[in-house]
Amino acid sequence: MSPRLRHLTTLENLPRETIERLLDRAEALRDACAHGTRKLDVLVGRTVLNLFFEPSTRTRTSFELAARRLGADVINFDIGLSSTSKGEELFDTLHTLEAMHMDAIIVRHKQSGTPDELVRHAMSGVSVINAGDGNHAHPTQGLLDALTIRQHRPDFENLSVVICGDIKHSRVARSDINALSTLGVKEIRLCGPAELMPTTEDVPQGRRVDDFDQAIKDADAVIMLRLQKERMASIDLPDEAAYFTHFGLDRRRLALAAKGCLVMHPGPINRGIEIASDIADGAQSRILEQVGNGVFVRMAVLNEVLAR
Ligand code: NCD
Repeated sequence: MSPRLRHLTTLENLPRETIERLLDRAEALRDACAHGTRKLDVLVGRTVLNLFFEPSTRTRTSFELAARRLGADVINFDIGLSSTSKGEELFDTLHTLEAMHMDAIIVRHKQSGTPDELVRHAMSGVSVINAGDGNHAHPTQGLLDALTIRQHRPDFENLSVVICGDIKHSRVARSDINALSTLGVKEIRLCGPAELMPTTEDVPQGRRVDDFDQAIKDADAVIMLRLQKERMASIDLPDEAAYFTHFGLDRRRLALAAKGCLVMHPGPINRGIEIASDIADGAQSRILEQVGNGVFVRMAVLNEVLAR
């Protein structure tokens, strides 16, 4: 059996067995909750800290809910963007919080690599979980996206999955690519404007397809990404109407995909920019399922790093 994780900062290089164990556990937790169990006591007496240096709705709430459902205590520590610049402050914060005997720190930070830095500086006994760092990784999102696809299409070896949009700035895309390629997805296609595509050095996996009509042809799942303007130089900012014309998911384009193609988006969605409203709310949309699965995946991860 692959060793139990102490920290989760990325899905890169995680063995397939570890990813499958987390997905299986998330599924078991989902089944338990479907049968009426709302609260377990596996993490009673443990304290989890949400340390978010960037705004978040879904991720923070679902980590909090996940921790509470496992019986842990949760502290939310919101830090204004203004105090993020000095590395020293971060480690002071870390050590202060450790002195209060936190068991796990869930961190989101605009700087790629911050969770790994925390792992290097963390004193013994505290687990670090990455809730999104810069454009580097968002491992629980990668897991919940894989779980959402697996629920409908467990035959990964037959699947073509398209990731479309601002891939260059997307930690979600990187973690999705890591999860899906490790799980043996047949083909991952990457599509987006040239200026928002990562170099092959940066992201080696995935077949680049410039034209969205071609990229989505016969696809089994399409993951749409938000234009992450906060991470773009103004020169990269596309005109929104033109963007939708070339890279927006609408009814016509979805009809080019395989029948029943899963429509996914990590949220927050920009209706009419990367996805048409009727598609976001349509029968093929799995967007709210992704949100629901996020809670179970985060329960599985907390259980993995914290259970005694
Ligand atoms: C994503 C994020 O913050 O990386 N959102 C999320 O966690 N659900 C994607 C985004 O902000 O576009």
